[in-house]
Amino acid sequence: MPFEPRARFRSRRTARFTESVIREMTRLALEHGAVNLAQGFPDFSAPDLIKEAARTAIAADFNQYAITWGAPSLRRAIAAKYLRWYGLELDPEREITVCCGSTESMISSLLAVVNPGEEVIVFEPFYENYGPDAELCGAATRHVPLHPPEWSFDPDELRRAFSPRTKAVILNTPNNPTGKVFSRQELEVIAGLCQEFDALAITDEIYEHILYDGAEHVPIITLPGMRERSILVNSLSKTYSVTGWRVGWALASPDLTDGVRKVHDFLTVGAAAPLQEAGAVALALPEEYYRQLARDYVERRQLLLPALEEAGFRCFWPRGAYYVMTDISGFGFPDDVAFVRHLVEKIGVAAVPGSSFFAGPGKGSRFVRFCFCKKCETLEESGARLKRLS
Ligand SMILES: Cc1ncc(COP(=O)(O)O)c(C=O)c1O
Repeated sequence: MPFEPRARFRSRRTARFTESVIREMTRLALEHGAVNLAQGFPDFSAPDLIKEAARTAIAADFNQYAITWGAPSLRRAIAAKYLRWYGLELDPEREITVCCGSTESMISSLLAVVNPGEEVIVFEPFYENYGPDAELCGAATRHVPLHPPEWSFDPDELRRAFSPRTKAVILNTPNNPTGKVFSRQELEVIAGLCQEFDALAITDEIYEHILYDGAEHVPIITLPGMRERSILVNSLSKTYSVTGWRVGWALASPDLTDGVRKVHDFLTVGAAAPLQEAGAVALALPEEYYRQLARDYVERRQLLLPALEEAGFRCFWPRGAYYVMTDISGFGFPDDVAFVRHLVEKIGVAAVPGSSFFAGPGKGSRFVRFCFCKKCETLEESGARLKRLS
């Protein structure tokens, strides 16, 4: 029999997956020597203290498997931090699962709670992993639009997305790609619907400390009635500028945690043991660390956004996270993909076409997303290159 790798060895589960547009942009950026404002990873150093803690942990021989659901030191540090910041009491023995980044925390959580044929609600535009995550569970995704310029949702549209098939709503706040920070009132609407329809809120809060203009981050798990109905996902990646470490966590009631731990154990066994030890040191950093992190991002936002506006972009100023959605209607290009191609090839700046954050053809084609988790020099250089557009 002839060997036919394509048809026979591609599972139905992955048939509709496409290559991540963001990684493709990173490749194009390298090819054209462009400044990469596409993929959201910092080009500046991680804090010395936690790098030193990682070296120390390796030297002290934290080099074998940690307990599958997380090193005790890190689980204790996570519990202490959530108590300090949000008054949230967590039992490190029964309510915390350390995973390989929030990526694995999210997929483990979904695989633990969602059955094939059920539905998951996702706000649109969205971070690109949630659709494939739902698909890997055999679940369907229901999209609810966030409307610019405030990226607010219509409570009636959200209500219409809920049904007896809804198992969970995935919520990312502060939000990638829009920079929206969901307000307490909005979270109350979501929480009310979760309770009415007996659904869970699974929240991706990895930008919790990157906030602007007095925005406040509220974990939905802290709202009345949501303690047992939420899974909070977070990681070291963005708060400590260590996206390559792959250490994250899922926080939930013991019942939910039990399922998450089972999936996690079979998926990855555990996150890197020495980096979990360093993570415990990171989570114990004083409040000033987080204040400085937020101040640094205010400065970076201020370097990039006026340069974009001067070059002709309409910016939707983010209230959190480190991305800016822009409207490119003023440039007269046929669509976002053609524009981004021109930007990377001719101007030397890589960005992400807005359509990659939307489901369905044609949507999001007037938007382009830039990230600004970069050194000031990198952002200044981007600003200089963007001048060539006008
Ligand atoms: C919203 C969101 N969630 C998750 C991730 C990935 O997080 P981690 O590195 O913790 O897996 C990213 C990375 O850009 C993100 O923007």
